Amino acid sequence: MRLALLFALCLAIVHGQEESCRSGDEDPYLLFGTKTAYTFSNKGIPVSRAHDVPGCQPLAIWMMNRHGSHNPEADEFAGLQKLVMFKNNVIINYRNGNFRNTNLRMCMSDVNLLERWEWNPRLNISYAGDLTSDGYISTQHLAQAWKYRFPGILTDNVHDYLFKYVNDERSSTTFRAFTEGLFSAQADNIDISKESDEKLLRPYKFCPSWSTDVEENADTLTQLNIFESKQEYKEMINNISRRLGFNYDIEHETLHSMYDMCRYNKAWDVTQISPWCAAFTKDDLKRLEYAEDLMTYYKYGYGSPKNQEIGCTGVKDMMDFFRTHVDKETPQQPRAVIHFTEAQMLLLTLQALGARRDLAPLTGDNYHTAVAQSRKWSTSAMTPFNANLAAVLYKCTPNSNFQINDQYQVLFLENERPLYLEECRVGLCSWSFVKNRFGLIADNCNLKFCNGADKVKGISFLGIVLALLLELPTLLN
Ligand SMILES: *[C@@H]1O[C@H](CO)[C@@H](O)[C@H](O)[C@H]1NC(C)=O
Ligand SMILES: *[C@@H]1O[C@H](CO)[C@@H](O)[C@H](O)[C@H]1NC(C)=O
Repeated sequence: MRLALLFALCLAIVHGQEESCRSGDEDPYLLFGTKTAYTFSNKGIPVSRAHDVPGCQPLAIWMMNRHGSHNPEADEFAGLQKLVMFKNNVIINYRNGNFRNTNLRMCMSDVNLLERWEWNPRLNISYAGDLTSDGYISTQHLAQAWKYRFPGILTDNVHDYLFKYVNDERSSTTFRAFTEGLFSAQADNIDISKESDEKLLRPYKFCPSWSTDVEENADTLTQLNIFESKQEYKEMINNISRRLGFNYDIEHETLHSMYDMCRYNKAWDVTQISPWCAAFTKDDLKRLEYAEDLMTYYKYGYGSPKNQEIGCTGVKDMMDFFRTHVDKETPQQPRAVIHFTEAQMLLLTLQALGARRDLAPLTGDNYHTAVAQSRKWSTSAMTPFNANLAAVLYKCTPNSNFQINDQYQVLFLENERPLYLEECRVGLCSWSFVKNRFGLIADNCNLKFCNGADKVKGISFLGIVLALLLELPTLLN
């Protein structure tokens, strides 16, 4: 009896290092880049009472929202469905004990969870990308939280609002959820001002010169490629492969499908354990998170100079709106302009505002530096599901608050917490600063550069026609 116990104990020690159960982890790593659940994103940072600005009254609110959690995108389906076969192979590996040369493995309860995992038949490609019911409910809750915080401007009067949204299923469902949260009634039954404005909310869809220079430019992914070709990254893939019982490296696509399934599961139901997360250590998850930060930093952030130009449309919309409210005798309508858009747009807008700017650029080589480890550019923090950016215009009574010397102030909130901007105090900026800094961006905001390449083509085409016309008399002679 004692011997048996001792034997079990020895086994536990031998296997102890790598066999801890990740599904039982009390403090799992849940920052999953653009597929992070809202509640995990700023965990531990309380929603503050920053909106109570002594001596000031909120006049107007401008807000940009990302949709809640959604079904996999159409282009993710095939990869995710392959996990069904892949899972069977992992289970076979475990049954056959394919671990001769390694002590990397998942614990039995993690393996059992994986074995029981099945493709959810609810996931049908006809509904690819649609908001989930969890995404719907979290959006309603968020609307209620905003209304509770700003009852004076988020009123029951529909004329106080203007909604702008992207023309897709996900954004219009988000709009429905949000307005239901605000008015406790179906938006369809309410006569509410709404417009779909793709050029404002997705300018990058209409900007060939940006697409060529940034989105489709292979150089944009240079730093990501450098990171993924590091020895450390390759070793991670090797470790994950061995942990699943393969003695060859699994494909990049499989790795990403597992990662996506893990993070979707945790976003669809934050209380559930995803068996796919057990394939990764915390360090693996942090590397995958960094890889996505590198990608977004160059595609939508400070990494590419053109992003500054294209990110201005949201800032311009905000400034146009606030300018209609400043220096008016009576309150203006609407008091709330609320956008529904996607992660790319939020990232571009934050970047145009100069928020979350790191002292040094993020690169494929500097993962282990302090700048990268405590980076401000973090997609998990900036664009989880239901991400939001709000700017609230306040009118203050002069001299009522000794720290406030401007009659108007603007409070910036990111995911309901004060957004750090260098020239402001805990997200609160004087109107003179906002007017100068963001007014300049707004006034210079035009997307003329977008068709730059086309214009050159147009001119040269015109040139040829002109030249031909001029030549015509000689040719006819
Ligand atoms: C997906 O949904 C469509 C429409 O509801 C249905 O016709 C189709 O059979 C479903 N496909 C699968 C694989 O369940
Ligand atoms: C791979 O696993 C070994 C343990 O077998 C560990 O020492 C090493 O740090 C791991 N490497 C990475 C990049 O995760």
